Amino acid sequence: MTITLRSPLDMHIHFRQDNMLRVVAPLTAAHFAGGVVMPNLIPPVNTLEALHRYTGEVNAATYGYAFAPYMTLFFRDYSREELEAAKPHIIGIKLYPAGATTNSEAGVREISAMDHVFAEMESLDIPLLVHGETHGFVMDREREFCEVYRYLARTFPRLRITMEHITTRDALDVLEEFDNVAATVTAHHLVITLDDVVGGLMNPHLFCKPIAKRPEDRDALLAAALQVHPKIMLGSDSAPHPVDKKECPGCAAGVFTAPILLPLLADLFERHGALDKLQQFVSDNAIRHYRLTPPSTTVTLERTPMTIPPSYGDVVPMWAGRQLPWSVTNVEAHHTS
Ligand code: NCD
Ligand code: ZN
Repeated sequence: MTITLRSPLDMHIHFRQDNMLRVVAPLTAAHFAGGVVMPNLIPPVNTLEALHRYTGEVNAATYGYAFAPYMTLFFRDYSREELEAAKPHIIGIKLYPAGATTNSEAGVREISAMDHVFAEMESLDIPLLVHGETHGFVMDREREFCEVYRYLARTFPRLRITMEHITTRDALDVLEEFDNVAATVTAHHLVITLDDVVGGLMNPHLFCKPIAKRPEDRDALLAAALQVHPKIMLGSDSAPHPVDKKECPGCAAGVFTAPILLPLLADLFERHGALDKLQQFVSDNAIRHYRLTPPSTTVTLERTPMTIPPSYGDVVPMWAGRQLPWSVTNVEAHHTS
């Protein structure tokens, strides 16, 4: 059995920098025709100069692949002139509440104090991508943040907002309430719950922000993805950390999934009799929402088992050592001129 996907896209990726970038970016570019590259570097990508430099580094790391990096800026109090200058080079601006996750210390402390920036982004039609967590109790952070999503969606009705890596039924409710709100969902949040992270022996490689939630949340997200909700896109939040930052006290948040995403999703969609829906989840919805023309590729997966390697460089992938029934067997780029 085989399945062929056209121009799969990963709408939320952490590529990092330097050696890590050179290890992980080709793994994404080998399977995906494009992806949204997150700006939470140290220091964050929050000037046009830093954006151009980072774009060059990403292009160098993915050289030879038919891969479009969709770059983002790290949200701050930008002027209209800065936004106008950045617009042709970015897919959107990523907002982090200060301290909510890895490398987010430069994030926003008071969201309503940034209304003037949201208004400019709305008038320039620059999408806003949001890490939606409060500083409340860890299991409640996304649910509590839904009021912020509602505030933004209501106050700026033409601002295109993406709720990144949603993990709760509450966020699915917000999706239904507003035309200007879309969402990414990771592969791991479609298959794991908090039990997989800390219910038995603790698994640091499944620890991420937002933390995996309850079975009913996972099931609601999965149902939405399998029905191909038109506003839900794959955004893996593949977030590599060196093994010594994961297997230690004070484990860094982030699950590294880039090289296993398509096999994992093929297995998941097949088990739910929804293989024919995978194309929309991994590409079509994102193309429509962001009006993209990614490189034209076809990616073939076969029902040939893949054993997940113990590591890629010094990064341990999700489910290292496990077997997945599907693997990517061919990728073709179609050059159009
Ligand atoms: C991400 C990272 O490591 O950069 N970590 C994570 O747990 N997802 C940041 C993020 O997207 O929250
Ligand atoms: Zn992320």
